[in-house]
Amino acid sequence: MANVDSPGATRDDAIEIAATIAAKWRDRPDMLIPVLHQIQALAGNCVEADIAKIVSQEMRVPLSRIHDVLSFYSFFSTKKRGKVIIRLCKTAPCRIKGAQDVLEAFEKELGIRAGETTSDGAFTLETCECIGACEVSPAALVDDTLYGNLSPKEVSGLISSLRERM
Ligand code: FES
Repeated sequence: MANVDSPGATRDDAIEIAATIAAKWRDRPDMLIPVLHQIQALAGNCVEADIAKIVSQEMRVPLSRIHDVLSFYSFFSTKKRGKVIIRLCKTAPCRIKGAQDVLEAFEKELGIRAGETTSDGAFTLETCECIGACEVSPAALVDDTLYGNLSPKEVSGLISSLRERM
C-alpha cells in the first residue's frame, strides 16, 4: 500500500489510504485501535483531524470515541511527526541509569527538544513511560526496535546509522 511519505504523495492520497483501510472494518468498533495504528504508520506517523473524521465515517464509530482513543494512548499522535520516532524511557529505573544524559545527547545531536520534530521531517524525539526493558536501562524504542544500555557517546553513531537507512 502507498505511504504518504512516498514521492509525490498528496494529502488526498493520505485521506484515500485512510478511507480504504477504515472501510474494510465498517461496523467493527473493536478494530478501531489496530485500524488507527495501521493508518498512523502510513499517514505521516499521526492521525490528524481530517483523517480521524474519515475513519469515523467509514467505520461508523463516533468521532468522540476516536478522539478519546487518540488522546488516551501515548503511541498515537494527532500532529505530524517525523519518519523515525525515537521514544526514550524517562521512568525511574532508566532515569537512575542516566536517561536524562542520553536525552540531552539526542537533543544536541538532532537540534531539537523532546516533543519536537527535526526540520527535515526525519526524526521526532519523544519521552515515554516504561517500555518494559528496565533490565537494559536506559532504553529507547526507535520505531519498533528496542535499544538498551544507551549511553550519550553512542547517540551520534546511532543517528548516523538511522540516517543511512532512510
Ligand atoms: S523504566 Fe525504562 S524501560 Fe522500564
